Amino acid sequence: MELLKEYIQKYGVVLSEEALNVSQFLNEQVNAELMQEIGKDFAAYFAEYDYDGFVTVESSGIAPSIFASLYANKPLVVIKKKPALLDNPNFIQEECTSFTKKNDYYLTSQKKLIENRKLILLDDFLAEGNVMIHVEELLAKVNSTLVATGIVISKDFQPGFQKLSQQGKEIYRLAGISALDPLTNTITFSE
Ligand code: G4P
Repeated sequence: MELLKEYIQKYGVVLSEEALNVSQFLNEQVNAELMQEIGKDFAAYFAEYDYDGFVTVESSGIAPSIFASLYANKPLVVIKKKPALLDNPNFIQEECTSFTKKNDYYLTSQKKLIENRKLILLDDFLAEGNVMIHVEELLAKVNSTLVATGIVISKDFQPGFQKLSQQGKEIYRLAGISALDPLTNTITFSE
């Protein structure tokens, strides 16, 4: 998506060979116009898919997902991150580890919001692929299917995109990054 790539080039700050700061437009200061265009793009791309709605994981995926939900006219469920297991049969949980942030948490949702559905996951970053793997497992526990995943920024030099694509998972990414150079603040796109 050209507009997104322009924002990444203009406002993205390369923190290291692994990490890109996008706090100017995506996850701290949020550019509503860009989020709207991202949501529109996701809705158009998935228009021919057979699905019931979207899920995202709090928090940075929420902004673009709201617009995808609006343009696709499909519901959006935000999966929460909880620090501990809940003793409540109305909820379903799945343990997840963030490689980037080095923390463990439980993906958590009310069962009734996600059960027996065909769902598309939308998220801001794809790095190691942990969120995608564990969301699929969470959905499987409530007889739901992960139909596809839409990603705003995929760091293609990290294992997630390649590994999951090779497993046959359907991933649509709006910007793929093949390299980050912190010395020159150079961001190289995959295509
Ligand atoms: P994975 O799902 O692909 O395995 O990703 P991983 O666990 O490694 O990291 C997930 C978290 O790290 C996400 O935030 C994601 O947005 C963030 N992240 C990964 N790489 C980058 C990066 O290069 N730059 C920035 N800014 N963030 C990155 P989260 O824990 O879900 O938090 P939130 O921001 O959505 O609240």
